[in-house]
Amino acid sequence: MTLRLSQRVQRVQLSPNAAAKARANELRANGLDILDLTTGEPDFDTPAPIKAAAWAAIQAGDTKYTATPGVKALRDAVVAKLARENQLSYSLAEVVIANGAKQIIFNAFAATLDEGDEVVVPVPYWPTFPDAVRFNGGVPRRVDCSFEQGCKLLPEQLEAAIGPRTRWLILNSPGNPSGALYSDAELLALAEVLRRHPQVWVLLDELYEHIRFDGASPRNLLNLAPDLQSRSLLVGGVSKTYAMTGWRVGFGAAPKALASAMAVVQSQATSGASSVSQAAALAAFEGGLGFLADHVTAYRERRDLLVAALAPVPELDVLVPEGGFFVFVRCAGLLGRYRPDGQRIENDADVVAWLLENGVAAIAGSAYGLSPWVRFSIATATEAVAQAGPRVAAACARLQAATP
Ligand SMILES: Cc1ncc(COP(=O)(O)O)c(C=O)c1O
Repeated sequence: MTLRLSQRVQRVQLSPNAAAKARANELRANGLDILDLTTGEPDFDTPAPIKAAAWAAIQAGDTKYTATPGVKALRDAVVAKLARENQLSYSLAEVVIANGAKQIIFNAFAATLDEGDEVVVPVPYWPTFPDAVRFNGGVPRRVDCSFEQGCKLLPEQLEAAIGPRTRWLILNSPGNPSGALYSDAELLALAEVLRRHPQVWVLLDELYEHIRFDGASPRNLLNLAPDLQSRSLLVGGVSKTYAMTGWRVGFGAAPKALASAMAVVQSQATSGASSVSQAAALAAFEGGLGFLADHVTAYRERRDLLVAALAPVPELDVLVPEGGFFVFVRCAGLLGRYRPDGQRIENDADVVAWLLENGVAAIAGSAYGLSPWVRFSIATATEAVAQAGPRVAAACARLQAATP
């Protein structure tokens, strides 16, 4: 029997991260020594008090459906977190809890996009951004952000990208995959453009807000342009900060009309997030960030190790990340080179295949909309990162300028 897939599902693809990781695992299973730098989640364990809170919730019988937008205590904790950590004021009705930040983003587009509506997506992007737009009938309006501009959207690019159908701009800082962090001046310049286009909403993806290497506190567009809060969706969560990717809890903070519409979408898709995970997330927000400094120090050390190993490679241009846990590297200088077996390197997929043969798994920039680049994750053991850098440098050196 043939299965007819919907147009909608045919517009999107399976996460490229999952495919790259699967290939690395396959080679490992065959006995090869592969350093896996594909992973987009902290290698640290969820802090013990958070796990204990989940266990206590189970024992207390906290195992039933919750209200769709989330348990009130958790939503209150998010309101308090936004005031404490972000100096932003929200009411309870403006906060929705979902099964991860990913679902918040999906719900927002499902609730607001009609066929043909446009969303400005700076490139490189986290692949869910354009696919969540497409799945919900929208059209991603890609804007290439080059190495020279630090992979960050420029105000004149934003101005040029906005048209009559534009509904949203997506801003992700620190960015996945770039690690780029927008400065105050850059955010103010984007805010100026947005003020000229009051119909455009802003989706601020702040998942990596606490993982930044300048030692500063989180800071986002709304701190600098509070007038934009009435047309913004701030997306946050516990996945990256608290090493809780598997618990699946994220939140959105937005004007009540949008928050309510997102809850309607969620009520017919998944209902409320897991009651046990919400208890864990509550403990996370109430428990403070004392454990985090060690994690950020480790990410920083790994970043420095990888950057030090790759920066001297003449064919690579390393964008030194200011936050997040990825190092994004332009590899244009490797195109046209030859492997010892005579194969020519045509694109970043070929670069990644070659690196894999040399014992390092990474992800091609094409997965993030920008080629030829490679994304290396530093959310893996420091020792693995320390070994990976020299392996990558040696693999690049083995590529020859002419046919062997
Ligand atoms: C930029 C960005 N936003 C959101 C997410 C997803 O977060 P969650 O685990 O809360 O769904 C990720 C995960 O990789 C991400 O990189």
